[in-house]
Amino acid sequence: MRDSVGIGMLGTGFIGDFHTRGLRHVPVARPVACFGRDAERREAFARTHGYARAFDSIDAVCADPEVDLVVVSLPNQLHVEAVQAAARHGKGVMCTKPLGRSGAEAAAALAAVTEAGVWHGYMENVVFGVEMVRMREIIVAGGVGLPVTFRAREAHSGPHAPHFWDRETAGGGALLDMASHGIEAARYLFGKDVAVREAFAWGDTLVHRDRTTAEDNAVMIMRFEDGRAATMDVSWSSKGGLEGRFEVAGSGGRLISDMSSTVLRAFIEQPAGYMGEKADAETGWLFPVPDETYAHGHDAMMGHMVEAFRTGVEPRETFHDGLAVNLILDAAYRSLTSGRWETVARPDEVGT
Ligand SMILES: NC(=O)c1ccc[n+]([C@@H]2O[C@H](COP(=O)([O-])OP(=O)(O)OC[C@H]3O[C@@H](n4cnc5c(N)ncnc54)[C@H](O)[C@@H]3O)[C@@H](O)[C@H]2O)c1
Repeated sequence: MRDSVGIGMLGTGFIGDFHTRGLRHVPVARPVACFGRDAERREAFARTHGYARAFDSIDAVCADPEVDLVVVSLPNQLHVEAVQAAARHGKGVMCTKPLGRSGAEAAAALAAVTEAGVWHGYMENVVFGVEMVRMREIIVAGGVGLPVTFRAREAHSGPHAPHFWDRETAGGGALLDMASHGIEAARYLFGKDVAVREAFAWGDTLVHRDRTTAEDNAVMIMRFEDGRAATMDVSWSSKGGLEGRFEVAGSGGRLISDMSSTVLRAFIEQPAGYMGEKADAETGWLFPVPDETYAHGHDAMMGHMVEAFRTGVEPRETFHDGLAVNLILDAAYRSLTSGRWETVARPDEVGT
């Protein structure tokens, strides 16, 4: 068993920063190398977070002999390439959501790690959030009877970088970007042994037609094989800060969580720095999130993942989960065009 884990961080942007801050409570994690496109930014990132080296390519990070575990925090279009590079160098690899832009890409990522025999983890932070974990514990203890329906509202005013707005690089719009969280939350809460069979979706570009041809608002329903259902209501045009609400209605009770709510309220006359993801305002009534990497589950996720890798066990979330999410999203996108319920492909139907 390893004493420490050398981290190779691919991506020094928004989520690379969250993932790195999530490692601050993981003493066995050793920041070794990072990659970002912009030289100045990756050098600054390395200095701030203690990465020994900042490289100008994905391959250089994966090839670094001191890197044990590669963390993919890159735009969606680079996930498969990055996973393949890590696998080629025999490194463990974890990847942020969505695993791919499609089920086919997610299957290619899963095939790369399977063929190379390397450890893999799917970084879906929401299912590591302390409230979500408690919801699952209450469900398992029978507290709400049979969970019957699930509802997620995930929204903000729009992504911060161009790669999200281009449907080619992103692989979709708000549905892919936001519902990926709720889909995995529903699978986690209902139990992954119950397969999702069908999806139905509506989506449209209602607000940001000048920025994207992809949907900026969407609603989807997914139906489990036993008839139960989960609804994801997502938006890229919701003002006033990140919304992340998740609810379960069971035969014997209800569970309601609001990842973005905070007991801290502040009336601010002068801007006082970062208040929270996509807060949309710097003054007036604000709801500062005291510790976002904790509140959003990143701390727990990074701790769990690094320890699972170090001890050589399968983590709670793997590329199999990432593939399942992408296959559900594929069906939702087909439904968005067809206007009908669409069948979710099985993993073996996309070549894994
Ligand atoms: N779990 C979450 O809540 C969450 C939140 C935000 C983003 N994400 C995911 O993280 C990934 C990255 O998103 P982000 O918000 O960190 O993006 P970002 O634009 O803030 O950062 C992207 C990073 O990738 C690098 N990069 C390398 N090649 C690039 C290219 N061709 N185009 C653009 N950047 C390139 C950039 O230099 C930068 O370091 C996406 O897959 C996104 O879905 C997850």
